[in-house]
Amino acid sequence: MATPAVPSPAGPRGAVGPGEGLPAVFVTRPIPDAARARLERSAQVDVFDGADAPTPAELVSRCRGVVGLLASSADRVDGALLDACPQIAVVSNLAVGYDNVDVPAMTRRKVPVGNTPGVLTDATADLAFALLLATARRVVEARDAVLAGRWKSWDPGFMLGMELSGSTLGILGAGRIGRAVARRALGFGMRVVAWSRSARAPLGPGLEAVELVGFDELLETSDVVSVHVALAPSTVHLVGARELALMKRSAILVNTARGAVVDQAALVEALRTGSIGGAGLDVTEVEPIPLDDPLLSLANCVVLPHIGSATTVTRVAMAELAVDNLLAGLSGEVLPACVNPEVYGTAR
Ligand code: DGY
Repeated sequence: MATPAVPSPAGPRGAVGPGEGLPAVFVTRPIPDAARARLERSAQVDVFDGADAPTPAELVSRCRGVVGLLASSADRVDGALLDACPQIAVVSNLAVGYDNVDVPAMTRRKVPVGNTPGVLTDATADLAFALLLATARRVVEARDAVLAGRWKSWDPGFMLGMELSGSTLGILGAGRIGRAVARRALGFGMRVVAWSRSARAPLGPGLEAVELVGFDELLETSDVVSVHVALAPSTVHLVGARELALMKRSAILVNTARGAVVDQAALVEALRTGSIGGAGLDVTEVEPIPLDDPLLSLANCVVLPHIGSATTVTRVAMAELAVDNLLAGLSGEVLPACVNPEVYGTAR
């Protein structure tokens, strides 16, 4: 098939542009240039360029008439959107997580949904480890002390933290990212235990030392608990008041998965009362976290703005895979990374 000339972005829906005649797609956040250019060779592309993600109303209005949607985890993609825009034939999510997509609603309408597994594993595991180190060694608190003029002299009792070597890391969820965090922890001389509903030991090459343990045992014995489960109805508030109470008083909780896996109100209470030692969070129940959220006033909590996959290399790879998924869907081919392959089981 001849490659069509690269059209410029189509602009708001209905605008006549060089992509006319090609299938229309809506991309909810700007994506790296190479992936966008590749998409523009095969589709009439409308990219949302607002400072924030589109509102639900903006999403519906920009999706009118499009057959492909490239969404992010900030967009709610559900049956109501498909009711308003029934011509949507493929949804490509620029994330490995897809809790923002009502997958059963998509499947009922035979709309394949793509995600971006694999390409963001190392970047996210690195950030989990950055949070682990920042929280265990009180990096943000120590920097704040410098800026506030509280660094008076070298003091043997100043800013004491947790030594990682010899400590136990508990991985909740032993998928790709959990296992990548485990590899890093072993390199730091940590003992690693993991809990998983589905994984069996050994977890993979180099992970023979990781012991699979029960859920409560992991919480009771770990010095650091790192959350790596997907958000699903069964994992909402998987870590709540009961679970936090099981953890050691010195323990640190790290969450780079999804905010709602942890009961945030219970976490605030546990951090305030010293029932656990600290928390490092890349995700929160409401994103962006409101500036008056009590978590932000706690010295023993480090909060980052959902940047787990935010390296240039990874964001390029995510966009490429998301475009692969979208283009496959537009041509009626099986998506390279499809979360609901059952859509291909019956005639459309
Ligand atoms: C993911 O890929 O799921 C990241 O958390 C971005 O949403």
